[in-house]
Amino acid sequence: MQLTKEENEMLDGKYGEAVQKSMEILVAMGECYDAEKMITVASAHLLHGRSNTGKAGALFDKEMADRGGKCVIFTDTNPSGIEPWAWKDIGISEEAAQEQMDYTNDFVRMGIFLANTCTPYLIGNVPRVGEHVAWSESSAVPFVNSVLGARTNREGEPGSLTAAITGRTPAFGYHLDQNRYGDLRISVTAKLKEPHDYATLGHFAGKVAEDRVPVLTGIPPSVSWDDLKLMGAAAATSGSITLYHVVGITPEAPTEEAAFGPKKPRETFEFGEKELRETEESLSKATAREVDMVIFGCPHASIGEIRDIARLLSGKKLKSGVELWILTPRMIWLYAEKMGYLNIIEAAGARILCDSCPICMSQGFLKGRGHKTVATNSAKMTYYIYPHQGLLPYYGSMERCVEAAISGIWR
Ligand code: F3S
Repeated sequence: MQLTKEENEMLDGKYGEAVQKSMEILVAMGECYDAEKMITVASAHLLHGRSNTGKAGALFDKEMADRGGKCVIFTDTNPSGIEPWAWKDIGISEEAAQEQMDYTNDFVRMGIFLANTCTPYLIGNVPRVGEHVAWSESSAVPFVNSVLGARTNREGEPGSLTAAITGRTPAFGYHLDQNRYGDLRISVTAKLKEPHDYATLGHFAGKVAEDRVPVLTGIPPSVSWDDLKLMGAAAATSGSITLYHVVGITPEAPTEEAAFGPKKPRETFEFGEKELRETEESLSKATAREVDMVIFGCPHASIGEIRDIARLLSGKKLKSGVELWILTPRMIWLYAEKMGYLNIIEAAGARILCDSCPICMSQGFLKGRGHKTVATNSAKMTYYIYPHQGLLPYYGSMERCVEAAISGIWR
């Protein structure tokens, strides 16, 4: 790789051990992927849940903090393994909480901001079109690449932390123009009426596109950030989609021709009413009619989503024994409190939890609390909840999930 004078100095240890180690890792990564050079990155987003990074990831992060690593670019965190204000209340053990707090402390030592959310773009971390960044988190990566038009590979913990410490990443993958053009077309003819219909479409897109770049046509101009947030999260879960284009909506796809650039679409898939119905049905795996847990906010909820849930819960009570959790960033919790939504939600017996999510908590935690069946409007959550937490999912609209929380029955 061609390194600049400063990058060579980093490699030679002029800026300390953490920078040197980081540059060694980045150069090795670059050589693996035939990168010709490094590029500067404007921000990094790191995994933070102790159970997501595992012991090896946590040890790596601690080692970098011990070696004096400091972030030189804006760097923030994904959800943590605990809800800092409610972990005792919801039954997280002292041991798990302490483990996470020690881990968090390593992040603080390196100057990493504790955003603790998978939707940092909802609270001000919004990369610009064409800006290079080094983000992890499978749901956030397609959002910044596709909806915001910034450029990132799907980083793991070492890739994003070393970028944070050096301000560099190797120039390969989705940082390069030639890898950002569409590979296949998904022609959407189904009427997408509810936000979760977009999650259903995302699940379908991930299945057919796998790790390629799909170009979606037929999406109405009314599509919202919340819709695209649910869609990208699902697509990055059923497949490993890192970038997609929506013709007429996302910045690199003003037209279909622009989205494909010099490439020709290799395949076309239709997403019609039949595919919408069949994909939605395939995401419900539970069979018992009783529901004892409802989860919203995967990815973390926006203030608009919280408002809609509050409207559905207004004046109602959850069935005894059923819990409803809404996951959101702390800043949006404050916003919800100010708007009166928090009162309505808590009066119904539901709660808004911040800074965390069940998939970032320790494995089997929800099963350990006695839960068996979850209802959610997130296709991503249906995918992870059984292997991670041992709960079988029902999947459907926000309204249907709220109704299940009130009646205790999936209808
Ligand atoms: Fe976010 Fe957790 Fe879902 S990190 S995308 S709420 S699995």
